[in-house]
Amino acid sequence: MTYTFKIEHTRIPKQKPATDQLGFGKIFTDHMFILDYTEGQGWHDGRIVPYQPILLDPSAMVFHYGQTVFEGMKAYITVNGEVSLFRPERNFARLNASNARLCIPTIDEELALEALKQLVKLDRDWIPTAENTSLYIRPFIIATEPYLGVSPSKKYQFIIIMSPVGSYYAEGINPVKILVEKQYVRAVAGGTGEAKTGGNYASSLKAQEVAAKEGYAQTLWLDGRENEYVEEVGSMNIFFKINGTVVTPALNGSILPGITRDSMLQVLRKHNIPVQERRISITEIIEAHKQGTLEESFGTGTAAVISPIGQLKFEGTEYVINNGEIGEVAQLLYDTLTGIQYGKLEDVYSWTV
Ligand code: COI
Repeated sequence: MTYTFKIEHTRIPKQKPATDQLGFGKIFTDHMFILDYTEGQGWHDGRIVPYQPILLDPSAMVFHYGQTVFEGMKAYITVNGEVSLFRPERNFARLNASNARLCIPTIDEELALEALKQLVKLDRDWIPTAENTSLYIRPFIIATEPYLGVSPSKKYQFIIIMSPVGSYYAEGINPVKILVEKQYVRAVAGGTGEAKTGGNYASSLKAQEVAAKEGYAQTLWLDGRENEYVEEVGSMNIFFKINGTVVTPALNGSILPGITRDSMLQVLRKHNIPVQERRISITEIIEAHKQGTLEESFGTGTAAVISPIGQLKFEGTEYVINNGEIGEVAQLLYDTLTGIQYGKLEDVYSWTV
C-alpha cells in the first residue's frame, strides 16, 4: 500500500549544529509528522509540517492523567553514504503494545513506517555523519481530548520528531557507577513497566536524583514485590556475565522489552556465547562478585547502545566490576551492533532498513 501525506515545507530552514554541539535530544530537525485520531473516524490527516509548538487545550487529558506512549529509534548514515534505520518495524509493533496497555487506539504500523521514511528523507541532511552520531527519532502519542474525567481519551495525536545526537551519556561507552536502589521502585507486576510510557520515566526521577547526589550515574532497579530481583538499570535493560554465561532478567511484565536487548541476545547466540534469560537476584550478583565470577555488567538501549557498569554500590558497599573497564563481551556487542548500524559489518540478521 502506498501512503501519501501532505507536506508543508519549512520556509525558514534552521542552521545545522556542529558535532560538538550535539549532545542528546536538544536540537530538532526542520520537520515533523502529525497524525490525528478522532473517535468514530479513526486515525486521519497524516501530514508533514515544519517543526513547531503544538496547540493543546489546558484540559487535554495527557496533562492530567499521563495517557501517552513513545518510542526511540535512530537513523544512521552508513559508510556507503546510505540512510539506514535499525529494526524500525519492531518499534512500531512495541508502540502498539504500549498503546494496548494505555487504552490508546492502535496505529497502522505500515503507515507509521512509511511516514517515518518520508520524514527522514525530507530531513536527510540533518543526519550527522561524524563517528558515533546519528539521528534520534522520537515517535509518540498523546491524549488530546479536553476532559477531566478519568477515562480513555476520544482524541489523540501521533507525532514524530527527530533530533541529531551524539552520545547519550557524557561517559560514552566508558563504564559508569551504579547505585542499587532499595527504597524506590520503577515498576511492579501488573503495572506499566513493559510499556514505553511517560509515567515510568517520571517515577524514576527521584531515585535518579538520589543516585546523582551520591555521585552515581544511574539506578539499578529491583522488583517491586520482593525488592530482590534485578529488573533494569536507569532506562536500559541490564546484562551480567557470570562465570562465562551472559544472563539478563527474563521479560516478566514489568521490564521493557528492549529492541537492543533482543538484538544483543541474537548476537550472543550467533557467537555461541552461553546466554540465559531468567530471574537474577541481587544476592546472586553480590555472591558472584565475592566469588570472583562476576565478570561483566552493562546496560543496553537505543540511546546509548551499551553502557558498561564499572561499579555497583549496594547497601553501602562498593563492588568494582572488571577493574572498572569495558569487558570483552560488551565490546563485542557494541562493535557488532554499531558495525551493522553504520554499514561497516554485513547485516547477517537482516535488521537494517
Ligand atoms: C534508551 O535507552 O534508548 C531509552 O529508552 C532512553 C530514552 C528514554 C532516552
